[in-house]
Amino acid sequence: MSMPQYILVTGATGFIGAHVVDELLRRGHNVRAATRSLEKGELMQMARPQYAAQLDIVKVSDFTASASFAEAVQGVAGIIHVASPFTYDTTNNEEELVKPAIAGVKAVLDAAATQSSVKRVVITSSFAAVLDVNRKAPPRFTYTAADWNPLSYEEAVAKETSAVVAYRGSKKFAEKAAWEFVEERKPAFDVVTLCPPMTFGPIAHPVQKLADLNESNAMLWNVASGKDMPVARVPFWVDVRDLAVAHVEALLRAEAGGKRYVVASPEKFSYGVVKRVVEEEFPWGKERVAKGEQEIEDSYDLDGETAGKELGVRYRSFRETVKDFVEQAVEMEGSEQR
Ligand SMILES: NC(=O)c1ccc[n+]([C@@H]2O[C@H](COP(=O)([O-])OP(=O)(O)OC[C@H]3O[C@@H](n4cnc5c(N)ncnc54)[C@H](OP(=O)(O)O)[C@@H]3O)[C@@H](O)[C@H]2O)c1
Repeated sequence: MSMPQYILVTGATGFIGAHVVDELLRRGHNVRAATRSLEKGELMQMARPQYAAQLDIVKVSDFTASASFAEAVQGVAGIIHVASPFTYDTTNNEEELVKPAIAGVKAVLDAAATQSSVKRVVITSSFAAVLDVNRKAPPRFTYTAADWNPLSYEEAVAKETSAVVAYRGSKKFAEKAAWEFVEERKPAFDVVTLCPPMTFGPIAHPVQKLADLNESNAMLWNVASGKDMPVARVPFWVDVRDLAVAHVEALLRAEAGGKRYVVASPEKFSYGVVKRVVEEEFPWGKERVAKGEQEIEDSYDLDGETAGKELGVRYRSFRETVKDFVEQAVEMEGSEQR
C-alpha cells in the first residue's frame, strides 16, 4: 500500500495559513501543518475533529534553516509556504522581519529540492512586493502582477526605516529569492507566488483573545470597537476565504505553474466603509464605531481579475467580509468578559 500524499502548509496556525489548511481538508487532501507551537497545533486539531485522519501537525521551531524542514517535507506532493513575520511591533526590522522572511523561503525551497515527490511550491508573497509608493496618479494606472516594489535592500533595512516599509522589503526580497532559486537551481518542482493586499475575514486559527488578533483584522476591530480609524495605505483587499481558494487552486492547476498572481477583490475599501458597514449591520454600531471619516482612494487600480479568472476565484463583497469578521469578534469579546 502506498503512503497517502500530503500537502505541507507552513504558517498553518496563522490567520491565512489556517484557512488554507481548511480549504485543503474540505477538498479531501491530507495536510501536514507546520507550526512553531505544538500547543497551537493541538488547538487546530481539536477544533477540527472531523478531519482527525487528514490533519497532522509538525513542529518546525526555526523556519529559517532548511534542516528544520527535513521531517516536514518527507514525501509531500506540494508545499504552500505561508509563514513569514507579519508585525509592525519590532525593535530590529532586519533581524525580525527581513532576514527571517528571506531565509524562510530559501529554507523551504532547499528542503523541497530534497524530495522528488514535490511537484509544486506555492508561496504567499504580498501586494507589498508589488506596490511602488512613489507612483502617483494622474494619469490613472493599474497595478498588475508584472509590477515590483522598487525598494532597495539598503532602504528596507535602514535604521530610520519604519516597520511598515521594512515589511514591504521583507516580502519583496523573500519573493525575489524564490524566483532566483528557480532560475539558478532549476528544481524538479515549479513555483507559484500570490500577492494579496490587505486580507480580512473571520479567523480559523487559534486566537485566545482579541488583543492577539493578526495585524490586518486588528485594524477592522479598531474601527468597529471605536478605538481608532487606521490609515488605509492602499484601497485594495481580499477575503481570507477567497485567498485560501486561490492558494489551493494555485497548487492544483497545472497552468498556474511559474506564475505570479495578484489576488484581490475588484471592490475598493477604506476604513470609512468599514465604519458604515458596522453602523448598518449591527444595532450597537452607530454608538460604538470609531470617530472620523475616510474616503476610498480611487485614483489607481489593481488587477485582481486575472487571478480571479485563472484561479477560478469568485470574490466576496466587502460587506460580507466585514460582517462575518465583526460578528465573530463580538462573540469573542463576549466570552472574554464572561
Ligand atoms: N494579513 C494580511 O493582510 C496579509 C496580506 C498580504 C500578505 N500576507 C502574508 O500572508 C502570510 C501570513 O500572514 P497572516 O496574515 O496569516 O499573519 P499571521 O497570522 O501573523 O501569520 C504568520 C504566520 O507565520 C508564522 N511566522 C511568522 N514569523 C515566523 C518565524 N520567524 N518563524 C516561523 N514562523 C513564523 C507564524 O507562526 P506562528 O503561528 O507559530 O506564530 C504564523 O503562522 C505572511 O506571509 C504575510 O506576509 C498577509
